[in-house]
Amino acid sequence: MAEVNFDLIVIGSGPGGYIGAIRAAQLGLKTAVIEKDKTLGGTCLNVGCIPSKALLESSEHYVQAQHELADHGVKLSKVELDLATMLGRKEKIVKSLTDGIKYLFNKNKITSFEGTGSLKSATEVEVKSATGETQVLKAKYIMLATGSVPIELPFAKFDGKKIISSTEALSLKEVPKKMIVIGGGVIGLELGSVWQRLGSQVTVIEATSKLCGSMDAGLTKQLQKILAKQGIEFLLDTKVQSVDASSNQVKVSFEGADKKAGEIIGDICLVAVGRKAYSNGLGLENAKVEKDERGRIKVDAHLKTNIPNIYAIGDVIAGPMLAHKAEEEGVAVAENIANGGGHVNYETVPGVVYTWPELASVGKTEEELKTAGVAYKAGSFPFSANGRAKALGSTEGQVKVLADAKSDRILGVHILGPRASDIISEAVIAMEFGGSSEDLARSFHAHPTLSEVIREAALAVDKRAREM
Ligand code: NAI
Repeated sequence: MAEVNFDLIVIGSGPGGYIGAIRAAQLGLKTAVIEKDKTLGGTCLNVGCIPSKALLESSEHYVQAQHELADHGVKLSKVELDLATMLGRKEKIVKSLTDGIKYLFNKNKITSFEGTGSLKSATEVEVKSATGETQVLKAKYIMLATGSVPIELPFAKFDGKKIISSTEALSLKEVPKKMIVIGGGVIGLELGSVWQRLGSQVTVIEATSKLCGSMDAGLTKQLQKILAKQGIEFLLDTKVQSVDASSNQVKVSFEGADKKAGEIIGDICLVAVGRKAYSNGLGLENAKVEKDERGRIKVDAHLKTNIPNIYAIGDVIAGPMLAHKAEEEGVAVAENIANGGGHVNYETVPGVVYTWPELASVGKTEEELKTAGVAYKAGSFPFSANGRAKALGSTEGQVKVLADAKSDRILGVHILGPRASDIISEAVIAMEFGGSSEDLARSFHAHPTLSEVIREAALAVDKRAREM
């Protein structure tokens, strides 16, 4: 008979749950993971971060082949889109990574249960399989890592065909002629970019006056201009009032920035207006675990719920809905249980929008510093003056470094540019160590690299950048 007693049971196998489980196993805890889906990895690996990046990469190659390679002296006589192959490649990447988790679980002696997990009490978890069989597991500790689901607009219920969420937008079998995206956040811009690059006419409708939520206003404006030049149409300050999918097309009616009513007709409407904590059906009431008014599980600074042996992490609690934030929390919970030493530094969680160019950010924005009344110095430097960016043929964007006016400690770094997602890490590490803009400016940066733009922006904080 299979083991039913564990030190730690993790419900949910996304990046928070599986990384937390591995850390717990490394620390000697007998660990089990319960996952309702057939494959491990949660939203990120199956229908989120990974497949979207695969499609972003492929669609970028398509654009390059069509419009940019000739510039490099690489002439192609005919460029054709083979969408089935592109989607197949994405599926292969997803499979290799989700299989990789299975391998890691075996290696770390983590027991994995396929089924829906729910609390029966503070120490018992029921697993219900897809065919309805149940079994009850017992645990000293429980980690709730059930993630989030797309928010549905009341007047635009997902039908999976014409009104879709990000999940379906990763697997469209043909390129829609016209795609309407509701929501100018991360998903809207990333998946809007994918389909625009593949030939769709994309319109993004955003309720507020800016894209990308609270990210740097200036860089976001610049990104909007660049994406508009690439072909995406933007309607900001626009309130969607209804979505009608009753014919073979979809009609979106809205009130525009000028308060005038308008409508737009497309083949598909992607609704990307945020995600919400997935905490229903988790049996929280059976263990008396508290939620907040938005359905997020309440936790303290140690990620502990109001029940001392039950922890929660990732999208199902408050904070940015980011895989890397969930991972750190999963590790912190494992370490808190094993030795009390877990910690997450929420001041240095980077955020990235994987458009081209990419927008990446860590720490405070100028807007936030102004609101908080913090005196700061700012330095920025453009990619157009960087040799590597020129060689790459991607010179749009800039880096902005914000440092405390007195101590010079780095308060925020914001990057719009090629591979911003990768080069933001040096800013994260500098901030983790309490570094100053002087530290960034005086550290070696290999030449020629994109990261030199960060160094120049740090030098610019003290007006020492080597201007072109
Ligand atoms: P989001 O919160 O990033 O953006 C949603 C946007 O929709 C906001 O700008 C909001 O003002 C707008 N909006 C809300 N209601 C609207 C309405 N009725 N009409 C028009 N606009 C409306 O949410 P998104 O893009 O759906 O992403 C969900 C979550 O997934 C985010 O928390 C994000 O951090 C995460 N994610 C992260 C990625 C990354 O790290 N690269 C990639 C994809 C998702």
